Amino acid sequence: MTYQAKTFPLSGLQGISDRTLEMHFKLYEGYVKETNRLHEKLAEFLADGKVDQEEMPAYSELNRRLGFEYNGMVLHEHYFGNLTRSGGGDAESRSAFHAAAARSYGSYETWKVDFVGIGKMRGVGWAICFQDPTSGRLSNHWVSLHEVGNVAGFKPVLVMDVWEHAFLLDYKPAERPKYIEAFFANVDWQVVEERMRVGTRGSQKRVAST
Ligand SMILES: [Fe+2]
Repeated sequence: MTYQAKTFPLSGLQGISDRTLEMHFKLYEGYVKETNRLHEKLAEFLADGKVDQEEMPAYSELNRRLGFEYNGMVLHEHYFGNLTRSGGGDAESRSAFHAAAARSYGSYETWKVDFVGIGKMRGVGWAICFQDPTSGRLSNHWVSLHEVGNVAGFKPVLVMDVWEHAFLLDYKPAERPKYIEAFFANVDWQVVEERMRVGTRGSQKRVAST
């Protein structure tokens, strides 16, 4: 089984150039390729049905890299997936996302201040709004690199890449706030809303089975 890189019909975004997107798609494809390659390598170790002691250092290193490559692949798919040329603005005041943000943070505006604040944190990583599938509560998290800080079982509903490669062709390193504004000018709130619904359906199933 191998993963196939997805394509995203993104161009002409506000404040995020096509040049940046094209470069970014190539980076994403690299994560897909590396994820597949790691699996191939690990399969070679497992071909004889055991992991020998002398194989352990190389085997361990490959396994340690899985979280980085997998999350690099999946988070980019979420990021590109929640952007659109015809998006932007804020979540609809009647949307499930708006209501959940208000429930979780006191107001949608406070949720946004927190999300943007996390996006401005120093370092390379991601600002991610997750939905707790068991309660529907939203929480914003900083994820370092691609794999440190994700919450197991939580569903990413809004994902913002704040590695410098996401904006360096368009803005200076110190201009990350401008990039964050550009990100919000292109958010596909319909996709966010759909992720909320899928998450809620999942939670109902989970509650019913426990
Ligand atoms: Fe990226």
